[in-house]
Amino acid sequence: MRHGRHAAIGVFDSGVGGLTVLKAIMDRLPLESTVYLGDTARVPYGTKSGEVVTRYSLANAHALFEYDIKALVVACNTASAVALPALERELPIPVIGVIIPGAEAAAKVTRTGKVAVIGTPGTIASGAYQAALKVAAPSMEVHTRACPLFVPLAEEGWTEGDVPRLVAEKYLGAGLLDGDVDTLVLGCTHYPLLSSIIQAVVGPRVTLVDSAIATAERLATVLRERDLERLEPTPVERHYLVTDTPARFLEVGARFLGQPLSGARQIDLHVK
Ligand code: DGL
Repeated sequence: MRHGRHAAIGVFDSGVGGLTVLKAIMDRLPLESTVYLGDTARVPYGTKSGEVVTRYSLANAHALFEYDIKALVVACNTASAVALPALERELPIPVIGVIIPGAEAAAKVTRTGKVAVIGTPGTIASGAYQAALKVAAPSMEVHTRACPLFVPLAEEGWTEGDVPRLVAEKYLGAGLLDGDVDTLVLGCTHYPLLSSIIQAVVGPRVTLVDSAIATAERLATVLRERDLERLEPTPVERHYLVTDTPARFLEVGARFLGQPLSGARQIDLHVK
């Protein structure tokens, strides 16, 4: 049956970043096949308007739906922040974004009830993390900051040393963590690659929350609740689709996935 238990998990992102979410899914649900779509022709989403990111997200989702998927994970924080309601309306399968799982994980971790969130300009401006954190814990105090330079640093592989440290000091200083903030949500696909330097800058009293791990956990729960999880080991398939030529995706993506990528296919999207 199409879109049933034996179908794959669809995952999309603006580019390579969502491979950090795919990695968490592969670790948490090793029996599940996956189809990953990186919209490498249109990346970045983090600096674009909500309206445009929603149109791109719908095109990604419809392309993946053709691949017989049983659930869709919106790995991109920016797309999750602005396009989730539209995606849920249009797709007849469960759609899981990264924002609510990340916010719920942060609400569990914080002892002081004061949480900071970092993400792209689009994610922070949308207010989606702020809203999800308030739902998870109404008395929560939320501080936010956009950290756009972390994205190219992670893609360049500049994750250690003076340059990322100085950038992190600049972004994570000046009030973001004032007044007992004890939890920092990494609200962007790229930031887990910079977690060592971010942790070094914020110090040990602040716990980092990686939305990718929380999202994989949420996906596992949704599949179980809907009787959609694969129960026996069947051959696992990994498909990678991209909208630009694949060379850079394969090179940079291997670092995000933590293992070599075995080929990606270029497709065209029908963006309305
Ligand atoms: N994937 C995006 C996110 O998590 C970061 C890269 C971009 O701006 O497209 O928000």
